[in-house]
Amino acid sequence: GQVAVLMGGTSAEREVSLQSGQGVLDALRSRGVDAQPVDGIPALVDAIRAGGVDRVFNILHGNRGGGEDGVVQGLLEALGVPYTGPGVLGSALTMDKVRTKQVWIAEGLPTPRFLRLPPDRDVRAAIADIGLPVFVKPSCEGSSVGVARVADANGIEDAVRVAREYGGEMLVEPLVVGDELTVGILGDLALPSIRIVPKGEWYDYHAKYVSDDTRYLCPGLEGDEEARIGEIALAAFRAAGCSGWGRVDLMRDRASGELLLLEVNTAPGMTSHSLVPKAAAQVGIDYADLCWRVLEQTVP
Ligand code: DAL
Ligand code: MG
Repeated sequence: GQVAVLMGGTSAEREVSLQSGQGVLDALRSRGVDAQPVDGIPALVDAIRAGGVDRVFNILHGNRGGGEDGVVQGLLEALGVPYTGPGVLGSALTMDKVRTKQVWIAEGLPTPRFLRLPPDRDVRAAIADIGLPVFVKPSCEGSSVGVARVADANGIEDAVRVAREYGGEMLVEPLVVGDELTVGILGDLALPSIRIVPKGEWYDYHAKYVSDDTRYLCPGLEGDEEARIGEIALAAFRAAGCSGWGRVDLMRDRASGELLLLEVNTAPGMTSHSLVPKAAAQVGIDYADLCWRVLEQTVP
């Protein structure tokens, strides 16, 4: 039957999703899968109505017209069309960084301390509690869109204005000095971790998708630590109600060695710069294999 590769959409991560989607589409076709590109949720509804969509490979990133927030998952459940990636609960929960962290804390999983800032809360007072430097993030965005690093008090207003453009709550986290790591999840398997070494100060949108100067080390850790990061990432993924495939982002505190969970991506990037394909390659799963295996993880 036919696979709809759902991509694009109207979220802030549209361009990234189109790149991911093209990669997935080409890969599935190279494996003989009858796959068609579909740009955004309204077009998906039309395609399903027209008949012939047997399942959906969801590579629509982000929220509000993106595919990672549970909305399209609910739609597809209601229509009885199987799809890749986590279901409604895991998708909706992990789109919200604040509430994901609350679940992890309740489960005893490690995550940086944070402040939740409702849209109307006074920011200066809140940041006084936590101390600088901090990261200010919209609670519900991806690809570092709207994220700012604030090193001195003069930068706060700007950071908050940028984060607020994305609406809703914000998250303020103290800066963790250390390594940025990520773990791809494929079914019950945690892929080897990747340590990201950006040329600039942190792994921002430019470092993610534009720059060729970012270095990636895989596996990112050694021995027991590498085993431990896989266990934590898998536990965090499951605690957040996720299954299928995805990617868990973490930090390793340089002083304490502690691993700290940042967030989960339920339709992780599949561009030529993206991380899950690099981790899969490390264990002999090439890009097309990876797409095939993700498709095998279709729910229900
Ligand atoms: N949010 C982007 C697509 C990622 O996590 O790869
Ligand atoms: Mg993300």
